[in-house]
Order: sequence, then C-alpha cells, then structure tokens
Amino acid sequence: MKKLLLTASLLSLVAFSFISCNKKTTADSTESVQHVSSRTIKIGYAQVGHEAAWRDANTTSFKTTFTPENGYELLFVDADGNQEVQIAAIRDFIAQNVDYIIVAPVVESGWDAVLKEAKAAAIPVILSDRQMKVSDESLYLCWVGGNFLKEGRDGVKWLESYLENKNLGSEDINIVDLQGTIGASAQVGRTKGIEEGIKAHPNWNLIAQKSGDFRTDGGKKAMKEIIKEVGIEKINVLFAENDDMALGAIEAIKESGKKPGEDIIIITFDAGHEAFVRMIAGEINCACECNPLHGPRVAEIINTLENGGTVDKIQYVDEAVFDQSNAAAIMPTRLY
Ligand code: AHR
Repeated sequence: MKKLLLTASLLSLVAFSFISCNKKTTADSTESVQHVSSRTIKIGYAQVGHEAAWRDANTTSFKTTFTPENGYELLFVDADGNQEVQIAAIRDFIAQNVDYIIVAPVVESGWDAVLKEAKAAAIPVILSDRQMKVSDESLYLCWVGGNFLKEGRDGVKWLESYLENKNLGSEDINIVDLQGTIGASAQVGRTKGIEEGIKAHPNWNLIAQKSGDFRTDGGKKAMKEIIKEVGIEKINVLFAENDDMALGAIEAIKESGKKPGEDIIIITFDAGHEAFVRMIAGEINCACECNPLHGPRVAEIINTLENGGTVDKIQYVDEAVFDQSNAAAIMPTRLY
C-alpha cells in the first residue's frame, strides 16, 4: 500500500471523470444585492463565529452585501461557536424589530423556543449555511447552503476512483475521520458520507474518528492524539471535514516524519484558497467545495419577498470537486 502511494503525485495528473471543472463555482453575482423597495431593510445576522477561513469569507460576503448603499442596515453578531449567544442575538434582533433574521446555526437542534418567539413577532427567519432540526418547519422561511451529505459522498467517490486508478481498489485502506463541530450540519452530512463509504467497502477501515471543531489548532491536536493512539504507519487516508483542520493535521503529520499527500492521502472540504495552494504543493489530494458566498443569495431571497414573490424552502448551491490534476488551472478563477 505504502509503496503504491508513493506514485500518488504522478498519478494525480489523471483527471477523474466526475469532477466538474467547468461548473460555475460561485453564485457570486452582485446584480441583485441592491433591493428595489425605497425603505431601509433592517437585517439581523447571527453568525456561527470565526472558526475557519470559510467562515471569514462568509462574514465578508454578508457585510459587503447588506450595506447602507444597497439599502440595508445590518446588525451582525459573531457568536464564537456558542449557541446560547446566537439565541440571545435572535432575541435582541426581535426586540430591535428587524425586518428579517438570518441565522447560520452552530448546531442543528435546540432552536424551537426562540424561533417561536420570532414567529410570534412576525419576523421571517432565513437559515443560511447550516440547517436546523425543528418540530415545525414553518418556524423558518427557507434555507440556503451547501449539500453536506453530497459533499461527503463526493469525497468518497473521489477516493474510490483514486484507489481504483492505482490498482488499490481491493487493498486494506485505513481511514481517519477528523470531524467538525459535533451536531453541526456540515459535520453530520460529511460524517454520514464517509461512514456510508466505509460500510460499502469491506476493505475500508475507520481506524479513528475525532472532532477538531473545524479549527486549525483543533485539527492538529486531534491528529496528534490519533497518531499517538493508532500509530502514523497505520494511517492511509485522512478525511478532514474542513480545510482548516486539514492544515492543522498536515503539521502533525509532518512532525511525525511523514509526507502529507504522499504517505497519507488527504481529502478536505471547503476548497478555499489555501487548499488549492496545498494541492498544487502536493500536500492535499482532493478538496470538495463548500461555497461560503451566501450574502448575494440571501439578498436575492429578500428581494423576491419584498416584491411579493415566493421562494423555495430548501435551496442547495452548486459545488464542485477539485484535485491535484486541475488545481493549478482552477485556482486563478477562485474568489475565496
Ligand atoms: O458550515 C460550513 C462549515 O463551517 C465549513 O465547512 C467550515 O469550514 C465552517 O466551520
């Protein structure tokens, strides 16, 4: 297995048929951000925090979309990964009588009570990025974000093709899953994706699964612990549920004397700028996209509503898969 993995960098030049390089990778039009009504629209956005580069890009997308020039007043709260702070922020938005509440929920459960308060105040709630599990779907108006389960399955499909192309399809493959914040949709979907993949392949073994909380330091710490527990020699594949944790884990792998991307196949999620840099450097093998640029999408939804229109309840955004075979060509077109 190890010997064959050493040929990874050469074989990575092979393009995988399901990778959609020509796909429009950003829904980033700014055409619809300026709303048509004459009043200033007051928005409250309860953001998860600032745990990852993805999150910073998402925050920037909202702050540059919901501006006074575009006809908006934005109340922005960074909850630093704390659901209680988000709940308090939503209550404050209700007290300030905002026109719309936007939430990127830290975790999926525990929202019913505060959403009922927003409903009683007749303030529409739009979910962005992660989803919520609620007792009554009418408690929120709609959701827009990435399809996390599909992202996880895309990572599995990429691994299947990669191993097949190296005649490793029937080898024993030991996989480590670095999970995101437990209970967050992005973790739930991506973990389900890899667990399904492991079930479907009797020769794939999940040898460790640990949360790094979507952070670089969390990824490094979790990876160091895993290396200590199972031994670096045993690890063939790292499935890192976001770029930032992959970057931390790469440090831990290097400190153990191994070459990330060669000795250990690395699949990551988000496909931000640094993931492209590392794919080109040969340290990350595959990056499954999660697009953070939701500001214009949410503005479009609000515009439609302001004009008396209706919107789809669930709105998935297009996302692609990239690897070392196309990273250099694609990188100049990326916006985050
Ligand atoms: O919910 C989206 C996820 O949140 C991104 O993958 C991750 O980087 C962020 O923390």
